[in-house]
Amino acid sequence: MHRRLTETRICLASHNAGKVAENAALLAEHGISVVSAKELGLPEPAETETTFIGNATIKALAAARASGMVALADDSGFSVASLDGAPGVYTADWAETPTGRDYQMAMAKVEKLARHDRDRRAWFSCALVLAWPDGHTEGVLGEAHGTWVWPPRGDKGFGYDPMFIPDGMTQSFAEIDPAEKHRISHRAAAFRLLKEACLG
Ligand code: IMP
Repeated sequence: MHRRLTETRICLASHNAGKVAENAALLAEHGISVVSAKELGLPEPAETETTFIGNATIKALAAARASGMVALADDSGFSVASLDGAPGVYTADWAETPTGRDYQMAMAKVEKLARHDRDRRAWFSCALVLAWPDGHTEGVLGEAHGTWVWPPRGDKGFGYDPMFIPDGMTQSFAEIDPAEKHRISHRAAAFRLLKEACLG
């Protein structure tokens, strides 16, 4: 049995303003308001696990224990089949430079490693984990499958969006309307699963 969420206010275990806004909007539809880990001045724990669920669980539990509230954390990334799922949980790390994240460079790294592989399948993953202050957790994993392309296409998205074409479409995640992306994305898939398991 899944534990259902009965609280009307929870903590979002993220210091990323974009993610907080996106998740806050989705939770508002269920009458749930949020306070972010950043607003509460909570520290960001090290993401030392090797799976998306593992890292989201670290973040959610740390925030739940520190705040005394139920906390929601997410962890996401991009995977290439011929690279055995890399960059995967290291998706953000591949973009790190001394002066900030560079996604052109990160996408070029992926292309350089995978360019001779015939298998072009790729997918985005998004783990969402709810943690209660007593240590109970509920986690779901949403995925969006497709193929990677080169050169990158479009300028509407962020991160690795320009090199990803979702299955059944001809445009990249950075070319399609953002509202359309939000309907078919890994984050939308994860949120649907979380709703089924724990909300409303
Ligand atoms: P996180 O903050 O640890 O979840 O890192 C997520 C990484 O995956 C970042 O580098 C993002 O740019 C990338 N990523 C996650 N979701 C998406 C997406 O929807 N489009 C493009 N890149 C994404």
